[in-house]
Amino acid sequence: MNNLHNLIVQIIRENFASKEFIPLHPPVFIGNEEKYVLETIKSTFVSSVGAFVDQSEQLMSQITGTKKSIAVVNGTAALHIALREVGVTYNSEVITQSLSFVATSNAISYLGALPVFVDIDVDTMGLSPARLREFLEEFVEIRNDGFPYNKKTNRRISACVPMHTFGFPCRIDEISIICKEYNIALVEDCAESLGSTYKGIHTGNWGDLAAFSFNGNKIATAGGGGMICTNIEEMGTHLKHITTTAKVPHPFEYYHDEIGFNYRLPNLNAALLCAQLEQLNDRIYKKRKLAEQYLNQFEKLGIRFIQEPENTQSNYWLMAIQLENKSQRDEFLKLSNSLAVQTRPIWQLMTELPMFSNCQSDDQKNSKWLSDTIVNIPSNPF
Ligand SMILES: Cc1ncc(COP(=O)(O)O)c(C=O)c1O
Repeated sequence: MNNLHNLIVQIIRENFASKEFIPLHPPVFIGNEEKYVLETIKSTFVSSVGAFVDQSEQLMSQITGTKKSIAVVNGTAALHIALREVGVTYNSEVITQSLSFVATSNAISYLGALPVFVDIDVDTMGLSPARLREFLEEFVEIRNDGFPYNKKTNRRISACVPMHTFGFPCRIDEISIICKEYNIALVEDCAESLGSTYKGIHTGNWGDLAAFSFNGNKIATAGGGGMICTNIEEMGTHLKHITTTAKVPHPFEYYHDEIGFNYRLPNLNAALLCAQLEQLNDRIYKKRKLAEQYLNQFEKLGIRFIQEPENTQSNYWLMAIQLENKSQRDEFLKLSNSLAVQTRPIWQLMTELPMFSNCQSDDQKNSKWLSDTIVNIPSNPF
């Protein structure tokens, strides 16, 4: 097996000129980053207001095709405030996937709600509409107030949060139809899917609200940052208001008309983000070229390289291969990292973390299998 694993490391190295350490997904600054950040410093508008904040919101609406975009401090804050906006309340339940970064479930918990974990599809690695329907048919009824309730726990189902894993869009049209049928608010976790489309439409357009992340490891970074995108204008306007402390605009008076949040993205970070967003198409082009090369190379070795599912165009944010089982995966992780090629396993499932282990879930068959066998490999040409 060591031979095959050595060959995989060799293939990865062939795609990168560096003879040194090859990171998983380093940020790449080859555009206007320095210029815009310096401009911001010189203008002194480094904090909560500034032209780059507005510009980053406009750019995101252009890229995603959504009517409104609201820049916030990070993707977790975007998820938190989006879930609050669609009406997730204390002691309600939110359906999501256990194969995700912990922020998805954390954001649900910040509101005192409980995640309920439904399994994913193997090809998309995102929430399965078939399993979602199964869960709803078995456990959920619409009561007199018009809302869906979990018959087992008596709690209201207040939202559903599918995630577009590694930039591969899930079956979001089917999920959207099911959510409408059951009167469940839909928030897309698009933290990883900037630039990815489903049936030609950008992810983030299929539900009420969508949350994006610009963390340092993402396809476009603000250092740290996030964005909420929506086609529901009233929600967008309200979100802008409460993410900026709910201050009523006035030349000098401080009046806040509800409890607000200091979640606005600083102009300094927005400057970096604008420079990165300008290069998004080029970055995706380069990443898709790398994905094509990897696919050819891994096919020859008989290794499954994860490809974009039918009907989708992926940004190929984090590329991945699938090994036979957990012990092979662990052997490969050890070897590749010892040879200065950074690789990592998928996240530990949420159902296995102490905070969420008591939450309701289905059998999680696909989630378990994928979390045991998938390995992320270096994915950003630099
Ligand atoms: C799926 C997912 N959701 C949410 C987040 C949270 O974003 P942030 O790190 O910007 O808070 C991330 C990434 O970091 C993520 O990968």
